[in-house]
Amino acid sequence: MAGISDLPYRLINRALGCGLAFTEMISAGSLAHKSKNTLKMLSTSEGDRPLGAQILGGDPETIKRALDVLSGYAFDIIDFNAACPAQKVVSSGKGAGLLREPERLQKLLKVIVENAGVPVTVKIRSGWDETSVNAAETALRAQEAGVQGLFIHGRTRRQKYSGEVDYRIIREVKESLEIPVIASGDALTPALVKKMFKETGCDGVAIARGALGNPWIFRGSAEYLKGGTSPFSPGADEMARIMKEHLELNIAFYGEKTGVMRFRKFFAWYARGMAVKELKGRAFSTGARDEMLRLIGELRSSPASGDTCLTCAY
Ligand SMILES: Cc1cc2nc3c(=O)[nH]c(=O)nc-3n(C[C@H](O)[C@H](O)[C@H](O)COP(=O)(O)O)c2cc1C
Repeated sequence: MAGISDLPYRLINRALGCGLAFTEMISAGSLAHKSKNTLKMLSTSEGDRPLGAQILGGDPETIKRALDVLSGYAFDIIDFNAACPAQKVVSSGKGAGLLREPERLQKLLKVIVENAGVPVTVKIRSGWDETSVNAAETALRAQEAGVQGLFIHGRTRRQKYSGEVDYRIIREVKESLEIPVIASGDALTPALVKKMFKETGCDGVAIARGALGNPWIFRGSAEYLKGGTSPFSPGADEMARIMKEHLELNIAFYGEKTGVMRFRKFFAWYARGMAVKELKGRAFSTGARDEMLRLIGELRSSPASGDTCLTCAY
């Protein structure tokens, strides 16, 4: 997730059962120019494996230059984004804009497969809008281009991140392809992860918003899929432990001020559903480690703590 899936975030999720992870979406143009902020997004560490780098682009030459930069890093997978719905992305023929040009997407994927040096995957959506749900065609073209796995968000570009997920189109894609299909869309609880497998027959489920403030969703889902029935709740102490760890990783990675500021939104996500408006307000106005640690402590001892069960919506 852009703006979210940095190294600290990935490490926290991996500690709680996340297997394969990806960098934030990285523009091929910025990569080709080796901009400082972009290179920071490539940072990884020993425990951060297996790891894919996701790139966004539309111009074959720029993409080749980006791949050249990436070849200096040991990514396990290169994923190509043909799913981002942002206006400025699609209007320049990138991201989900490519869903309107399956042939061009296929050609770009061929270039990536030929130049990546590691397995290539692609992320698509069900289509551009409800009148052009073409994921099956797009997916077949991607497979023909040589990609080794396909991620599909079961919504159109028009739907962005809301409205119903189209399980039927994901199933159609899965049944048309030989390569693994990983499904995305509203995998927000272990029950919804299980539902995705059941409805689509997919090979894997990608968890996105469901992990915001809830890294326990990975282990919870794995246990639920194995037949576990009891709802999993981290409890106040475990939540505070992970929040602190996440904060410290952020500070080690970005320095105190930026690390704390980038943690603010996570504080709010961890505290989601709790009646702690005042604490959230204070979290959004601090850039200091000590204050953020104090807030985590107050959250732990707040009467609201433990009210929510993050993964027990099943
Ligand atoms: C804040 C945010 C950032 C995202 N960034 C990316 C991205 O960089 N690359 C990508 O493939 N998908 C991205 N997505 C889409 C998710 O990977 C996922 O496909 C989508 O949110 C549907 O899954 P969910 O309903 O389980 O969240 C992003 C989603 C959100 C909410």
